[in-house]
Amino acid sequence: MTDENALIRPPQEVLDEANVQDWEGLLETAGADPVAFWEQEAAELEWSKPWEKVLDDSQAPFYHWFTGARTNIVTNAVDRHLTTARRNKLALIWVGEDTSKVRTFSYFSLNREVEKMANILRSMGVEKGDVVTIYLPRIPEIYFAMLACAKIGAIHSVVFAGYSSEALNARIDDSESKLVITVDGSWINGSVFPMKHIVDDAVKFSPSVENVIVIRNTGTEVTMDPTRDHWYHELGRLPIAQGHCETVQVDAEDPLFILYTSGSTGKPKAAVHTHGGYQVHLSSTMKNCLDIHEADRWWCTADPGWITGTSYVIYAPLLRGATAFMAEGSPVYPYPDVWWQLVERYGINGLFTAPTAIRTLMRFGDAWVTKHDISSLRILVSAGEPLNPEAWRWFHEVVGGGRCAVIDNWWQTETGAMQVTSLPAMPKKPGSAGRPIPGQAVAVLDEAGNEVPPGTDGFLVLKNPWPSMLRTLFKEPERYVETYWSKYPGYYLTGDSARVDEDGYVWIIGRTDDVIKVSGHRIGTAEVEAAVNSHPAVAECAAIGLPHEVKGNAIHVVAVLANGYEGSRELVADIRAHVSEHLSPIAKPEAVDFVDKLPKTRSGKIMRRVLRARALGEDEGDLSTLEND
Ligand code: WTA
Repeated sequence: MTDENALIRPPQEVLDEANVQDWEGLLETAGADPVAFWEQEAAELEWSKPWEKVLDDSQAPFYHWFTGARTNIVTNAVDRHLTTARRNKLALIWVGEDTSKVRTFSYFSLNREVEKMANILRSMGVEKGDVVTIYLPRIPEIYFAMLACAKIGAIHSVVFAGYSSEALNARIDDSESKLVITVDGSWINGSVFPMKHIVDDAVKFSPSVENVIVIRNTGTEVTMDPTRDHWYHELGRLPIAQGHCETVQVDAEDPLFILYTSGSTGKPKAAVHTHGGYQVHLSSTMKNCLDIHEADRWWCTADPGWITGTSYVIYAPLLRGATAFMAEGSPVYPYPDVWWQLVERYGINGLFTAPTAIRTLMRFGDAWVTKHDISSLRILVSAGEPLNPEAWRWFHEVVGGGRCAVIDNWWQTETGAMQVTSLPAMPKKPGSAGRPIPGQAVAVLDEAGNEVPPGTDGFLVLKNPWPSMLRTLFKEPERYVETYWSKYPGYYLTGDSARVDEDGYVWIIGRTDDVIKVSGHRIGTAEVEAAVNSHPAVAECAAIGLPHEVKGNAIHVVAVLANGYEGSRELVADIRAHVSEHLSPIAKPEAVDFVDKLPKTRSGKIMRRVLRARALGEDEGDLSTLEND
């Protein structure tokens, strides 16, 4: 038997506790009638008006779920817990980068905070359907801000706290946000990242922004524009901030949030997600696929600026009435055992992280882990990029002590929640993301749209619509159809290549488009190239992703210099710093190489594929379209 086919049976403890014991039965019944399955899952949540139809596909690929129903994700994530014994249980435990700083909120007090923030947003004229940009680090206020927007029917647009003022500005302008919520600064490995300063630069030329709410976090000095900027703690003392704030019941299909993500072209696109279907899909996957029980303490280490964080840090644990845990800091600061210290201190039961973090921690050695009692862990989860078998095993054996379920899961910003995973009780194949979730089916197609035989690489598509699917791209419905539904009509094109083996397990290979996953972060080559091209020494460039042991992929830039410039180590350092400042530190190129000429097609398109092959010493493939010298 090859390693790939080695099935690892889940430990008995996991099986005994699993919400879903008969995983094969569940896949079968949900697969036979996905719509009935989703309807049954939806019935576990509260709706102020029931749906007329579970799935309306009459305007496909603009699918609609739970049409006619009224609800609000906050009703299900917060309000309904307040009338039960859960009102006094912890909804959130937060630990600062300085781990002696701890803040906790019961469901009751979380609701108070959300009401306060919602009252303030209302008083600033934020109405249903308005977009609010949230540019915050991992602090409790990011929960309050997102939930407050949802509560009043506003649409949140969370921008990852590591983005530059240019990137933030592009996202604010595109969404025409009226209001931005930020902090003075955030902590990054003991230093302050000046977030308010970045917002100042970003909104300088944004006519839509009327107000900026600033939360005091690091105590750093900032400039406040009296006509635009407001300290949150001062607003919170005003009478207008006090008292009850009703959760607005919205249409199930009303937008809950937009989240910008990278695609093949320069301009980031925003996936639109709605209240109704999204809450159903999250609640369902949290129960069936991640096996989270109400009594569990759940820690997803992702940042809410990425979809994993929005879905499984903010909404999913609250929808299940569990206790969410959030840490402000990184996994290696001040020492590479800070996570295990926190798991031990707070008795975390479920830990959801990314392969990069696992590989990083693995390199520090087992002793950092084993000196802590982390036996409270039961569920170990990974998403965002392929979890290689070596890292899988380390996670399973060293972190999980062989007692836990290791759950890989594949999905995207666009899918809102997981689509392929290995249910806790399902035997695992390290390196495979698992099988389609209950209610989903996948196929691997060749260029012509034919299904390829098991074990063959091809384009991964999703066959069934699902409740948490993006409904459209914000303000770009044609781009939505073109990007996801035009190559293979009727199927959702994921942009990934993959193969499905004889047992139905999905093996993700990587992106087929110009998207690079760096440490699990999704970055577009076009965005990197725009940042590099804005450096005065660069005439033109191409960015490619090359394999990296820890990061999965790393960004490599190949540049042609402008007249009068010569390549040097200083220039490389300067270009790298330039990208870090003008796009984000996460997009900083690993290497910059200078060439005289970039390979292009006759129509002038840069052939990144050729650059990649050259860098890897592989065959350059078909060069017939390469332009002549
Ligand atoms: C990749 C992140 C392998 C994939 C949730 C996808 C994965 C892209 C996995 C979406 C996984 C995500 N195994 N690859 N378990 N999960 N990917 O939008 O290439 O940030 O298309 O969503 O991440 O990235 P996004």
